Amino acid sequence: MLNMVASIDGAAAIDGVSGGLSSEPDKAMFGALRAQADTILVGARTANAERYRPARRSGARIAVVSGSLSVDPDLPLFSQPPDPPAAPLPLVVTTVGADCDAAERLADRAELVRAGTDSVDLPASLRRLGSLGARVVLCEGGPALNASLLAADLVDEVNLTHAPLAVATDAPRIASAPGGDSPAAAPRAFALEQVIAHDDVLFVRWVRSRH
Ligand SMILES: NC(=O)c1ccc[n+]([C@@H]2O[C@H](COP(=O)([O-])OP(=O)(O)OC[C@H]3O[C@@H](n4cnc5c(N)ncnc54)[C@H](OP(=O)(O)O)[C@@H]3O)[C@@H](O)[C@H]2O)c1
Repeated sequence: MLNMVASIDGAAAIDGVSGGLSSEPDKAMFGALRAQADTILVGARTANAERYRPARRSGARIAVVSGSLSVDPDLPLFSQPPDPPAAPLPLVVTTVGADCDAAERLADRAELVRAGTDSVDLPASLRRLGSLGARVVLCEGGPALNASLLAADLVDEVNLTHAPLAVATDAPRIASAPGGDSPAAAPRAFALEQVIAHDDVLFVRWVRSRH
């Protein structure tokens, strides 16, 4: 499943991060969704921009998708001691041919999962995560990774918080791939599953219709 927050005019970031769109209701939903997941998938640019850290309370394992290993090995996610101490290392999903020096910088900080030769093969990655025990995978973005997952029809559920803000910039939408990160996807059909309104914040859950 995906979880994203967007402004009422569709922006998924303000000044390059999502914090300005968030709110207490959004944070509550973010935590509730994390509590349902055993694996949290996130793109390298989001992990870097949002300074990802270990998912302490939920106990879920974070998996950063990074084909070129552009993910910062000094992120709190990799540098903070695991909590609890026996928690498994975070995962980095990359390619077979990923740069050896970059892989070396992540040694002892992350477990590498390799799927795909020139680019990350997302269906194979999810199968590999499944073989490592993943059952409920929550993707927290960003837009480029979401676009690739939707293009590959790997998304069963979209959870979207609408922040009561109009941003009016060229910020990415919740799934968009500037620079050709992802092939164009056929439109995917979703059915409305749940709507919650709280303090001007609207939360909507959409479930994929495959019939
Ligand atoms: N509003 C929200 O809820 C929300 C949530 C998350 C993020 N954001 C915002 O979104 C922005 C970052 O998102 P983004 O779209 O630029 O990047 P992203 O989706 O977070 O990460 C893209 C990176 O993922 C890696 N990747 C590997 N295989 C991929 C594939 N098949 N498709 C796509 N990516 C793949 C690549 O890393 P390598 O270069 O290492 O190969 C690529 O550069 C930030 O501004 C962040 O604040 C908003």
